[in-house]
Amino acid sequence: MAEHLTFTANADRAVRYEQLMPQLRALIGHEPSLVANLANVAAALRQSFGFFWVGFYLVDGNELVLGPFQGEIACTRIAFGKGVCGTAWKEDRTVLVTDVDAFPGHIACSSSSRSEIVVPIRSQTKVVAVLDVDSQELNDFTEVDKLGLEQISELLSPLFL
Ligand code: SME
Repeated sequence: MAEHLTFTANADRAVRYEQLMPQLRALIGHEPSLVANLANVAAALRQSFGFFWVGFYLVDGNELVLGPFQGEIACTRIAFGKGVCGTAWKEDRTVLVTDVDAFPGHIACSSSSRSEIVVPIRSQTKVVAVLDVDSQELNDFTEVDKLGLEQISELLSPLFL
């Protein structure tokens, strides 16, 4: 397993996602533990992009429960349809929030978070978890993040079988 992540110097986010994918595949390829792999992917994303908070919430009955993450302590349980995470789960789609104050029902785990993107992870067509990324900057996420994080979600999907 690679011990370091490597990127072209000054690479923009699109290039970083592209360069990160094979490194994530190598990182999780030989490890069967879901928790270990989610923990390393959260760390890799934080390390690669310097995001404020990166983590997973896992579907458990009618709630999401906090999983492996990197960043400040966070809310542990989110109900179906609540907040950005619960909305991504309920609507089974990526939710990109450019300004969290303008999203009705946003759950503020940290007052420092200003924008957010949440991507569902599916297993056999059902949402089994979400990947949540928060930024301290307004409007920090774009279609590039959506595509990059959705690719990561697809990479992680088989781990939930
Ligand atoms: N803001 C999220 C809650 C999780 S934290 O950001 C880590 C939401 O509204 O669902």
